[in-house]
Amino acid sequence: MDGQNIGRWSAEEAIRYDDFATRSFSWRYIEKPSLRTLVKPYITTKTVALDLGCGGGRIISMLRDLGVAEKFVYGLDSNPTLVDLARKRFPDANIIRTELTNTPYPGITRSVDLATAHLVLQYLSADDLSTCFKEVRRLLKPGGWMAIGVPHPMRVIEQAESCYFSRKLQVVRAPWGGVTTSSGLTISDHVNVAIAAGFNIVRMDEPEIAEHGNLHREAASYSSGPTRLMMLMQATDLRR
Ligand SMILES: C[S@@+](CC[C@H](N)C(=O)[O-])C[C@H]1O[C@@H](n2cnc3c(N)ncnc32)[C@H](O)[C@@H]1O
Repeated sequence: MDGQNIGRWSAEEAIRYDDFATRSFSWRYIEKPSLRTLVKPYITTKTVALDLGCGGGRIISMLRDLGVAEKFVYGLDSNPTLVDLARKRFPDANIIRTELTNTPYPGITRSVDLATAHLVLQYLSADDLSTCFKEVRRLLKPGGWMAIGVPHPMRVIEQAESCYFSRKLQVVRAPWGGVTTSSGLTISDHVNVAIAAGFNIVRMDEPEIAEHGNLHREAASYSSGPTRLMMLMQATDLRR
């Protein structure tokens, strides 16, 4: 780990984020519709899912609604407060407290069909992102899927009033209060790190506000440009 992993929160921040997470405008009208569309075709009742940076579990909840059995879910997160919350909410799931930068990930006893990483990879440097992707690639079944979502790099740069190519740590306002950070990687960085780790990029999405969100009072702050970058990746067959 190179010290750029800056996604660590106090218990108070963790609770504030968790309070905000499922009711947030961006989740309800931008991220969730996109993520659902990306992963839904690949889910069956036998799907083994791995959610990286699971927090209090809003992605786990979405996966469960889409038919993933709780007992087939692994959730990884480094924050003790959020890990406790996720364990209470999903007692049959396997919630593991660990750093995404520490590989191999502990406690994963099955091969994974579908991995998700929503709004967590922005905390990782390029080297740490590579470590994480390679580990997920190792844990996935051949042909398995990974869906990721990060704050759109253009939006981060715009909010931080910075330069797209600086690739420096960016500090931006957090919609749940205070500030949050992003390691400042570009779109091509994400794509190239994924390809180098053994993934094919199957789809990219820069989701707009889903139709029913346009009348919401918060729509204006999310409508002028792309706010999230979502990617669906498939593990290549390394034996080829
Ligand atoms: C913005 S929250 C997103 C949580 C969840 N994926 C969601 O969509 O609600 C980021 C989460 O990533 C976790 N996190 C940040 N850096 C991490 C790391 N290096 N290893 C494990 N978890 C990390 C935080 O503790 C937090 O729960």
